[in-house]
This record gives sequence, C-alpha cells and structure tokens, in this order.
Amino acid sequence: MEKKPHPAKRESPPREASAALLVLLVLLLNALLYLYLSELRGSSGRAEAEPSLCPFGYFRLGSVKNCSPWLSCEAINREVRKLKCVGEGAVKKVFLSEWKENKVVLSQLTNIELKEDFLHGLKMLKALQSRHVVRLLGYCEKQFTILTEYHPLGSLRGLNETLHIPKYKGMNTWHRRLMLAIDYVSIIRYLHSSPLGTLVMCDSNDLDKVLSQYLLTSDFHVLVNDLDALPLVNKSSGRLVKCGHRELRGEFVAPEQRWPYGEDVPFDDDLMPPYDEKTDIWKIPDVSNFFLGHVEGSDIVRLHLFDIHAACKRKDPAKRPSAQEILDTYRKVLTLLIREVAMPGTREML
Ligand SMILES: Nc1ncnc2c1ncn2[C@@H]1O[C@H](COP(=O)(O)OP(=O)(O)OP(=O)(O)O)[C@@H](O)[C@H]1O
Ligand SMILES: *[C@@H]1O[C@H](CO)[C@@H](O)[C@H](O)[C@H]1NC(C)=O
Ligand SMILES: *[C@@H]1O[C@H](CO)[C@@H](O)[C@H](O)[C@H]1NC(C)=O
Repeated sequence: MEKKPHPAKRESPPREASAALLVLLVLLLNALLYLYLSELRGSSGRAEAEPSLCPFGYFRLGSVKNCSPWLSCEAINREVRKLKCVGEGAVKKVFLSEWKENKVVLSQLTNIELKEDFLHGLKMLKALQSRHVVRLLGYCEKQFTILTEYHPLGSLRGLNETLHIPKYKGMNTWHRRLMLAIDYVSIIRYLHSSPLGTLVMCDSNDLDKVLSQYLLTSDFHVLVNDLDALPLVNKSSGRLVKCGHRELRGEFVAPEQRWPYGEDVPFDDDLMPPYDEKTDIWKIPDVSNFFLGHVEGSDIVRLHLFDIHAACKRKDPAKRPSAQEILDTYRKVLTLLIREVAMPGTREML
C-alpha cells in the first residue's frame, strides 16, 4: 500500500481562503488515514519486513524471543501430547496437541498411498515459510507427521459461523471482509512469484475445497495451510501443469481446465492440454465474493471490484490480470472506500 500522502491531483479553485484551508485539513486527514491503514496492516506482526521470521530450519512461537530449531522425530515423540482430532482431509488427520504449554497441531498421513502428496506438502511448507504460510514447528518424515502452529478459528470454511459469534461480530464489516480478500490475493500473488517459481494452487476445484486450504488467524488474517498440490509452471521452459488426472467440470474451475473436445469424445488425460497459473486468477472473484458476504457496504465494494473481476473471468487465460494487479486494485479500493466513509463528500470537494 502507498504510504505517502496523496498529492492533490487538481488545483483547488481560487475561491476564499477558507476553502483552501478546508482542502488542507482534508489532506491532513488523508495522511492520518494512510498512517492508520499501514498501522492496521502492521498490527499482526506480519508486516512486509517479516520481523517475526526465523532463519531456515527455525521457528519462534508466541511471545518467546529466540528461534528454536524445528522439532525432530525424537523431540516430537517425547514432548508433544495429542489432545483431540480437530480436522480430517483426504491426506491428513489433524490433532490439536500440546507442546511445552503451547497449543500446536500434529498432522498425520492417513493413507500411505498418498504419501507423495504428503511429502510434497511438507517440502513446500519448509520452502515457503513466510508471513503467508502456516508456521512449521517440526516434522518426522519416517512417521509421516508434521507439527504446525494451532489456529483456533480453524479453516476459512467456518468464516460465516465465526463472524456470527458475539465476540467476532465487530469483525463482520465490509472493511474487515475486504481485508480478508486482500490477504487471500496476497497469498496467490506470493505463490505465483514464490522463491521456488510460479506455483499453482491446485487443491481448488470448488469453493469449499479452496476454503479448507486456508486458516483464519485469531487476529483475522489468512494463512495458507495445505500445500499438498502446488505444481510449478515455468513459462520460459514451456512447463505447464494439470491439476490431477481426472476430468474437471463446473463453472468454478477455469475453462481451460475442462475437457475441450465435447461430450462425444471420452475424457483421456493424455489428450487433456495443460495450463498455467491463470486458473487461480479465474477463481479469485468467486472466493472474494464469499469473503465479502452480505453485510452493509459489501455491494458497494463489489461494484468497485466489478471491472477487475470481469477481467479475471476472461476466457483467454493470457488476458486475465496477474495476482499483483488484482492486489493493487483491491488495495486502492480499500483506501478509497475508507476515505469516503471517514469523510463523505470529500471527492466532490477535491
Ligand atoms: N494449524 C491448524 N489449526 C487449526 N485447524 C487446522 C490446522 N491445520 C489443519 N486444520 C484443520 O484440519 C483440516 C484438514 O487439514 P489439511 O487441509 O491439512 O488436511 P488434508 O488432508 O491435506 O486436506 P485435503 O483433503 O484438502 O488434502 C483443515 O481444513 C482445518 O479445518
Ligand atoms: C525455468 O526454466 C529455465 C530454462 O529451462 C531455467 O533456467 C530456470 O531455472 C527455470 N526456473 C525455475 C523456477 O525452475
Ligand atoms: C456464507 O454466507 C453467505 C451469505 O452471507 C452464503 O451465500 C454462503 O453460501 C455461506 N457460505 C458457507 C460456506 O456457509
């Protein structure tokens, strides 16, 4: 987000001095709002500089200052106590656990046939530790277990319910909801330009599936949790991807992910053309719509996002915007709308 105050784009008309003073006042308020906004973004301790991050192979938990090395098999077996099962997917069973008075999550492979997915997910979790990804605390490859930070609000699938708990009702505003969408698009942007290259979020064939891959933190930010299906696209070497080997159907997946040869030709994975990361872009409007929900103001946000969302839905993947472009637009809309709420009518004045 831009941090510097907005310069006045148009000259103030040479009216009375009081008008000029008003303009000055409005500019000052604008500057304060920008400061407030950057404060909001930094408040989670996940600011761009990532000060809470440790070197590779280490983690920091809670208020502890020092970085500890990832827990090994021995440490996990000795020091981690399973409490109860809090989730189960196709690949892993997830247990709320305790480690040195911290709540942590122990994920265990459920089906040995899926061990490649599990190990790929672990490899990605290690390589992509950042403010966008759930914190890794340890792992044991030979027992197929992964230890991560616990997030009591769970996956984004429960967002509706969470926002109706009295304690979180104050979060059920267009403003907070747009910030969640911004978090989500930031994650996609990060995956598309990750340290490993352009990664496609393949575990995303329907909205529910997408939502279950992300966690909601207690300070209302989004983290990506499940990195089991993240193939690499390499434009310069012509390397493309396919999300699985089965036929995909429905409007949620991008058109290029569907069988192109019609009902008369039976699906054959060998004939199915591969595609790139723009499939993630196609899905962003649907995920953002879920985030925005139906609260006061969310339709105004939708209106402002109409053009960028229409661009995401272009049939030709190459014509869709990048995650970075979408992120820039979302942030502009957030800034614009916050300013309008704080000072209705300022746009006409300036
Ligand atoms: N760190 C965590 N804190 C809280 N809940 C979690 C955590 N990790 C996982 N969960 C819960 O467990 C569920 C399953 O986790 P995960 O997505 O890692 O399993 P999976 O088997 O890989 O799922 P999939 O079927 O999508 O591949 C999540 O959707 C979430 O509800
Ligand atoms: C992409 O391919 C090019 C050319 O083959 C190679 O030099 C580059 O390292 C690859 N990038 C990644 C991220 O794998
Ligand atoms: C969440 O609530 C919205 C309405 O606010 C509804 O359209 C949507 O289907 C709900 N989603 C889930 C996953 O419950």
